[in-house]
Amino acid sequence: MLRSVILAASRSSRVERLVATAPYTRDVVRRFVAGTTPDDALRATRELVTAGLTVTLDHLGEDTVTAEQATAVREAYLELLAVLRAAGLTGSAEVSVKLSAVGQAFDEKLAYENARLICAAAAEAGTTVTLDMEDHTTTDSTLDILAKLRADHPSTGAVLQAYLRRTESDCRELAGAGSRVRLCKGAYKEPESVAYQSASDVDKSYVRCLNVLMAGDGYPMLATHDPRLIAIGQERARWYDRTPDSFEFQMLYGIRPDEQTRLASEGHTVRVYVPYGDEWYGYLMRRLAERPANVAFFARSLMSK
Ligand code: FDA
Repeated sequence: MLRSVILAASRSSRVERLVATAPYTRDVVRRFVAGTTPDDALRATRELVTAGLTVTLDHLGEDTVTAEQATAVREAYLELLAVLRAAGLTGSAEVSVKLSAVGQAFDEKLAYENARLICAAAAEAGTTVTLDMEDHTTTDSTLDILAKLRADHPSTGAVLQAYLRRTESDCRELAGAGSRVRLCKGAYKEPESVAYQSASDVDKSYVRCLNVLMAGDGYPMLATHDPRLIAIGQERARWYDRTPDSFEFQMLYGIRPDEQTRLASEGHTVRVYVPYGDEWYGYLMRRLAERPANVAFFARSLMSK
């Protein structure tokens, strides 16, 4: 119930204005977002890499409505890749891109073209791109664009969301050699017709999808903070003789940081998803919706100052 309310609010510009102007919102944002500039992103990346972790960077933004905005997002990624390259960090850091930020909602061709330029710049810098997955109305379009991008840049990755009923089958499609799939539970409010609704059904689906990916020939990226699913991932890695360079765990910036370094110290590859930029509202609301305790934390920090 609370999750639905928060996810509905994530689409409301009125609530966005209220949250953005609340006096201590910035303190809460800072827990989940690395900062606003490429230098902030670089600083966070350096800290994480020094701690033995790898990184994927997300220039915050979604639901772009003009070609100019889409171009600005593309340019922000090109700038970020140049900064990472100059700092010698492209061996440890890649980028994550939301197609809606580069024009998907109003011009799929433009979104593809922008994503293609980002993939080309990433390849030149010696790193990769992973396409984030948004609500279910964009899944087909995102996977179509992924297939086109992979024709030139086969290492381009995609996110699949275990809460969608279709995802086990999408995992089978994408479990082949050379593919990179980031498996997460899913963060949007989706109808029962397309998505499992109960936590236990989503978890069961996650395990089925994880089995398909770990048994396949691709590179699975297990994006979860859930201790049970992490343990199952470790167990399947042993079962399928997967070495630490043939799959990885992924978590979000600011969430379970001790677990991130613990897994890395056990020899696992762990990648942290680091968002930065001004457009943090939708991202923050999805993080609040995932965990009621975060709403309490937000409320406390609003009241305690
Ligand atoms: P779950 O929500 O059950 O949490 C398990 C435990 O993790 C909790 O008990 C708590 O300890 C901790 N935890 C989880 N979320 C927390 C939070 N917000 N704050 C504090 N603690 C928290 N989704 C999507 O739809 N499209 C996408 O492209 C992506 N991309 C993506 C990339 C990466 C690297 C990650 C890790 C996640 C995503 N997601 C996503 C988000 C994902 O779908 C999901 O909403 C969150 O990861 C939370 O789900 P968990 O698997 O962690 O389990």
